[in-house]
Amino acid sequence: MRVTLTKADARTAKADLLAVPVFAGPELGPGAEEAVAALGVPVAPLLEARGFSGKAGETAALPTLGRLPATVLLLVGMGERDKVDAEALRRAAAATVRQGRGARKAVTTLPQALPTDPAAAVQAVTEGALLAAYRFDKYKQQAKANGAKPPELASLALVAGASASRGSGGRKDLAGALAAGQVRAAATNLARDLSNEPANALHPADLAAAARKLLAGKGVTVKVKDEKALAAEGFGGIIGVGQGAEHPPRLIELRYAPKGATSQVVLVGKGITFDSGGLSLKPADSMKTMKTDMSGAAAVLATMSVLADLDVKVAVTGYLASAENMPSGRATRPGDVLTMKNGKTVEVLNTDAEGRLVMADALALGAAAQPDAIVDVATLTGACAVALGNRYAGLMANDEALAAELLDAAAEAGEPTWRLPLPPEYRKDIESDLADLKNVGDRYGGALFAGLFLQEFVGDRPWAHLDIAGPARAESDDGYLSKGSTGVTVRTLLSWLQRRSNR
Ligand code: BES
Ligand code: MN
Ligand code: ZN
Repeated sequence: MRVTLTKADARTAKADLLAVPVFAGPELGPGAEEAVAALGVPVAPLLEARGFSGKAGETAALPTLGRLPATVLLLVGMGERDKVDAEALRRAAAATVRQGRGARKAVTTLPQALPTDPAAAVQAVTEGALLAAYRFDKYKQQAKANGAKPPELASLALVAGASASRGSGGRKDLAGALAAGQVRAAATNLARDLSNEPANALHPADLAAAARKLLAGKGVTVKVKDEKALAAEGFGGIIGVGQGAEHPPRLIELRYAPKGATSQVVLVGKGITFDSGGLSLKPADSMKTMKTDMSGAAAVLATMSVLADLDVKVAVTGYLASAENMPSGRATRPGDVLTMKNGKTVEVLNTDAEGRLVMADALALGAAAQPDAIVDVATLTGACAVALGNRYAGLMANDEALAAELLDAAAEAGEPTWRLPLPPEYRKDIESDLADLKNVGDRYGGALFAGLFLQEFVGDRPWAHLDIAGPARAESDDGYLSKGSTGVTVRTLLSWLQRRSNR
């Protein structure tokens, strides 16, 4: 789908669909008043009959019967007028795109529902629309793909009501906001593509190849350690997790080093291309979605693919810790001891707690470079999803300022994130009789033990851990999320890096 800015307005726009905001009440919003006036019929009784009151998520389509150049007028519920924010606009844009399926051209005045910040409004509508238009249909035969659902809306033109003058809300600002929205959505959709890919088409070496291909020309250099290098250099966690699989592990290093960077951060992503649980085998049902266990790595890769486009002035090193967790005669056994990259020894009591093992090696390597901050992203624990559900990411951090920065960025991005503690009094539960650490703690509070485990590998660096086991997947189309992988944390990380770049 193409998103553009248009100088047309509600009364003059030629389109299959004209989408306009309506606030709770219903109270007609910008563009809606003019459009409804042009219809020349009272719409209040019609809306009442349909139960449309302007609540967020509601839509009502009205035929214009030749009274407007647009064929259909789509009223989009926004909720309370003074509570409209970027997230409300992303959702309204998503509703427009979903209603516009099968149409070619839509025009919308939605950005004007947030008149206080026209640029943010344009960015939000662009993001929401492009995220909602996403689908992963590469494995559908063409005929089936078209038969199953009508084709996506082909284009969406935004009526932003920009003042011709320069300064905030000027034409140039709006074009920049549109471009930023496009870039952020494209990065999110790239992460979705990678993590929707089935595990038989994306082994660790394929993830490395994808990084090389996708980051070429993006200002990011890619270096890959194969299983030989990993073993020789002491990455006992990644080797231990990957050794049961036919397809060997990789540690993929991504470097973005812009001129004039004043700070340096490390991102680490969990890249388990399939998590069977290993010898501590998962039940069949729990395995069905475990191709998504590389969503953290996908998010880091996708984030780094657009840092140059967004002109981020922060040096970023990304590590994708990638392995396939499989049972076999060569697999790590419960009770085995691994020696990690930083020399710490770990007794593996459950081979299904593999994420923390691969992450630990990458965190140790990242911390050794003494970066200003480390952020890791991982589908780490079912316990985090149990605690926070399918929409909230869990955040654990050893640094208050970094935690606050990430919570702010997540709020801006509309990716709900909730802080969880790293209780020092629980640390004793990951002590092993045999080794320095064991890879599981108590049954209760599982997300916290995973966090405490990772903390052992970051030294004294400011560090934050995002557990996305819940929100990495959506069970159904919902707002701008589409069923399957969500690409969660890409926009949070981008907002965080963009803010750090500007400070
Ligand atoms: N990849 C899983 C976590 C997961 C579960 C992600 C459900 C998404 C949905 C992780 O490797 C895992 O298996 N964790 C175990 C840890 C336990 C053995 C301590 C878990 O959560 O059960
Ligand atoms: Mn597991
Ligand atoms: Zn896993």
